[in-house]
Amino acid sequence: MADMTDFIQQVKRANDIVDVIGSYLELRLRGTTYFARCPFHGEKTASFSVNRNMQIFHCFGCGESGDVIGFVQKYESCTFMEALEILAKRANLKMPETATQRQDKEFSERKKKKDVYFNICRDTAVFYYKSYYASRGEIARNYVAKRGFDVDTVKKFGIGYSPDRYSLVKYLESKGYATEDCLKAGVVQQSTNSGIVDALSGRLIIPIFNMQGKVIAFGGRGLDDKTIAFGKYKNTSDTPLFTKKDNLFALNVAKEQKQQTALPNLVVVEGYMDVIAMYQAGFRRAVASMGTSLTEQQAKWLSRLTDTVYICYDGDAAGQKATVRGLDILDKAGLEVKVMTVPEKLDPDEYIGKYGKDAFEQLIGEALPLPDYKLKLLDDAFDIKSSDSAVRNNALPKYVQGALTMLRSLDDARQARYITAVSLRTGYSEDYFRRKLTEVVSSGDEALPDVTVAELTPEDKAKYFMAACLLRGESYATIEEKPLCNSAFLSKLFDYVLDCKEKNEKPTVDMLYTLCPNAQQEEYAQIIEPDFSKARQDKNERYYAECKRLVTVEKLKRKREELMAQIKNNPNDSSLLEELTKLSKKITNAK
Ligand code: UTP
Ligand code: MN
Repeated sequence: MADMTDFIQQVKRANDIVDVIGSYLELRLRGTTYFARCPFHGEKTASFSVNRNMQIFHCFGCGESGDVIGFVQKYESCTFMEALEILAKRANLKMPETATQRQDKEFSERKKKKDVYFNICRDTAVFYYKSYYASRGEIARNYVAKRGFDVDTVKKFGIGYSPDRYSLVKYLESKGYATEDCLKAGVVQQSTNSGIVDALSGRLIIPIFNMQGKVIAFGGRGLDDKTIAFGKYKNTSDTPLFTKKDNLFALNVAKEQKQQTALPNLVVVEGYMDVIAMYQAGFRRAVASMGTSLTEQQAKWLSRLTDTVYICYDGDAAGQKATVRGLDILDKAGLEVKVMTVPEKLDPDEYIGKYGKDAFEQLIGEALPLPDYKLKLLDDAFDIKSSDSAVRNNALPKYVQGALTMLRSLDDARQARYITAVSLRTGYSEDYFRRKLTEVVSSGDEALPDVTVAELTPEDKAKYFMAACLLRGESYATIEEKPLCNSAFLSKLFDYVLDCKEKNEKPTVDMLYTLCPNAQQEEYAQIIEPDFSKARQDKNERYYAECKRLVTVEKLKRKREELMAQIKNNPNDSSLLEELTKLSKKITNAK
């Protein structure tokens, strides 16, 4: 490894930092230091400095700093070794082979082959591009015009056309490429009856570039029904340069954008046309997953460019299981994941066409963080707010189970936050979720638990008991405030007793059936079964006091959570902070 350390020094000596950065940015000399507008965060004034004596850069705005290799690594969104290679090439230095590479006899052979495939892809792109403007390309040009793409957009994405099955084959032959290499590069294929043919013949061509801006594959859209019958889109098959599931379309465009403005986030869409339409509309931070579920490699590409990713899939696509798993992969890779919903089941292309770019930006503002999005999926799947108690009671345990799965996927900090959200939505106490989450996940844990009344949390039990006492008009049963209610049953009963209190009337137990004709047997039992005989009166009275304390603390804590959320949004509002202090005292006293 010693030779590598030496080599790094050699590369650094051969690449003066001012020369290198000067080739990327416009540098101005001020005193002994060069300044530019920082490429790593958007800014109007030049706070990015480059110092020749020290051979370092430093941004006074965002704090980025490093040496020449660090700059290239960051600017090109590449790895250290890739940056080293770029700089070595710039200085005409040959990269030393690592020990494993030397052992691997095929290594340099493979690298040479890859270069051939890169050339084949580049020349194929040129051929398609020319064909697009040739007279036979009229059908493609008409289609593109119909979709509203202008000349600049076509140029930017290198859109092309494959006129037939054999023209590309002949073109590549004339360039001297071996058929075997063209097959390996995936641009041509062996057909059963017709020999070697263009893999995407008759299609509109969208080249796929890698992050370095080299063509590695193509997407082809069918233009007539006959072609579309074999798939609306067809891709270059997987090759040594391209694996569909690990690549994203328009990574090169996103990188370019990052170099100009620093990317606050990226939007991942499904289709090529979405990215292209967005680009033309002035929205230049989109990449396409090309219709498959997201992978770890794709997460790595995204992480190189940004730390926040918006997912914008059409209709219900984002909610599908395979997709949610893909979103978890992004989350695990440390990306902040937000999920957009486009109304009317439109894709981004259609939505921008209909409502414009600003409306699309607005959808971004409304995107849900991944955990909230998962809760929304649960809301849609399990109607825990139904007015029909049977529906509700059936839905709630499933919802809770789903919520637990969601909570388990979170780190501690977020888990704590979302336990509150889930508790609010379900009415199950925060303690219930905390307890469940600390339970060892046993093999049978994925099965839906039958949430029976016996499993109710102490707070829930307390509410049923309080309702029972209040309905019977027990002398000690007083109530000032309605507790938090997780069932319509309880909510109605508490409304009723509070109403009676206000009117100075005595409640009756029988109202139970009038108010809640459709409740579950188990809920009725909670009210009917407690023993209110004289012998138990003292015990009941003490238990009632305990219940009241429990529900009071629960409600105060909920208020505190809400207040803290408000404070987060208005950190400078001192009256909110005062309220928080008061509330915290109340909670301590009530405990
Ligand atoms: P869509 O079917 O949503 O197409 O596929 P689209 O992007 O809206 O295309 P237009 O607007 O009708 O032209 C989304 C993406 O899924 C992949 C492609 O990458 C496509 O852009 N796909 C779709 C395929 O690979 N093959 C197909 O047959 C269909
Ligand atoms: Mn579309």
